[in-house]
Amino acid sequence: MRRRLLAPAVLLLATALGCTEADPGASGPPPALPAAEPEVRPLGRIVPLPASVKPGGAPYALTAATRVGASGHPGVRAVAEQLAAHLRPATGFRLPVVADPAADLALALDPAAAALGDEGYELRSAPGRLTLTARTPAGLYRGVQTVRQQLPADIERTTVRHRSWKIAGGTVRDVPRFPYRGAMLDVARHFFTVDEVKAYVDRVALYKYNVLHLHLSDDQGWRIAVASRPRLTAVGAAAEVGGGPGGFYTREQYRELVRYAAARHIEVVPEIDLPGHTNAALVSYPELTCDGKAPEPHTGIDTGFSSLCAEKEETYAFAADVLGEIAALTPGRFLHIGGDEADSTAPADYRAMTDRFQPLVARHGKKVMAWHQLAVDGVPAPGTLIQYWGLDRTPGAEKEKVAEAVRAGAGVVLSPADRAYLDMKYADDTPLGLRWAGTVSVRRSYEWDPGAYLPGVPESSVAGVEAPLWTETLSTPEHLDTMAFPRLPGLAELGWSPAGGRDWDTYRVRLGEQAHRWDALGIAWYRSPEVPWPAGR
Ligand code: ACM
Repeated sequence: MRRRLLAPAVLLLATALGCTEADPGASGPPPALPAAEPEVRPLGRIVPLPASVKPGGAPYALTAATRVGASGHPGVRAVAEQLAAHLRPATGFRLPVVADPAADLALALDPAAAALGDEGYELRSAPGRLTLTARTPAGLYRGVQTVRQQLPADIERTTVRHRSWKIAGGTVRDVPRFPYRGAMLDVARHFFTVDEVKAYVDRVALYKYNVLHLHLSDDQGWRIAVASRPRLTAVGAAAEVGGGPGGFYTREQYRELVRYAAARHIEVVPEIDLPGHTNAALVSYPELTCDGKAPEPHTGIDTGFSSLCAEKEETYAFAADVLGEIAALTPGRFLHIGGDEADSTAPADYRAMTDRFQPLVARHGKKVMAWHQLAVDGVPAPGTLIQYWGLDRTPGAEKEKVAEAVRAGAGVVLSPADRAYLDMKYADDTPLGLRWAGTVSVRRSYEWDPGAYLPGVPESSVAGVEAPLWTETLSTPEHLDTMAFPRLPGLAELGWSPAGGRDWDTYRVRLGEQAHRWDALGIAWYRSPEVPWPAGR
């Protein structure tokens, strides 16, 4: 996947963002923000930072008479309905969606706006008129997230608030830096229900993520029904870390998740981890092991002990069945075949298996996505998307293997574990999370440049960024919230915003202001001492 070349001018930098009274030094907690939000949020003071902002003029105000205008295009109408549904509970306004382009809050497609690309949008705000224009419904949907964030955080509440609802005057013209901005959820180590995953989708949608990567199988559990292999769920889904009951998605539930994400212009990338991380599959079908013996179900958190058997033809029949069914359920472009931590697979066997698994993905018209070991120990098929999860200190030779794959035509998604893994502890005293990659502070997760991260991998080969959330220590939606917030929004900004407009000292103020919104949304965020939070929170 190649990045489109888009270079919009960054018109607004620190000056318009203004008033960062927070201490720029790293030591000590920064001074608190005012307890209350401003009545009108300065234009562009949102996360992710827009590419271009021209503030000016008086604000637009939502009123009881506001109508939401949408053309007859079903995609536009759907986004307009989503926006109106979002704005109604807190405003109490009727907000009818009408086919009138002169409505005061109007959404429109402009197919000729090539510079807006697949997800860009333009927002114009003035008294009596707010317009959102994009080349695609996805662009309008991203723009809707800007509308939400420009409004007071109370807009996220589910009961009526009697107050003004203003959006600062001016123009935002915004396009993403990278086309791939992913959030990964591990539903294998601990299982999360359809509703819990939907709640996570809602959270990532607010920050303009466009991929939900679901890690659907691992040593502890198999989480998706496969009709041709019923024991995967009848047997392999019944465990999770710590001995809980586990669980799985039926095919219809998985389709429902795909639809839910698609309605938010988010593509689902399903992962079936092969040939390691397969204990749950081996428990279900012992004929897949080399010795034919069923291993014990695994409820611990160690890795690297399980492997499919390269010599057995059953292995390839199994992979063909599973990947074929998952491909049929998934409209998205990619099937992720894992490939990581196959520590008990002999190198020749790894190569033999991954050489045969990859064409199974292509057979169904999908592209391979895999963890970067495929580039180290295997040979990625042309067009593969390699997901890098190494560390700053990963040996150069390993990084060079990724660069080699890129020269052979692969793209890269960056998830460096010591930057982007949301399950790493923030600090030594963080109760949840792991620390094998070190602690990952909010600042550390924010201060790196995906376009210049891996030597020999030019920005043009970086598809984007992904924030994985592994769940060995996380078993409730509140746990997910605590590890994702406040780092998830920063990784969204790395994927979306131009590198030149970002810096930690202004970012941490914008981030602190988001706390009003997280409280309104009921998000169980972590109160990092690195960020200036609103006083009293
Ligand atoms: C991984 O964290 N094993 C991809």
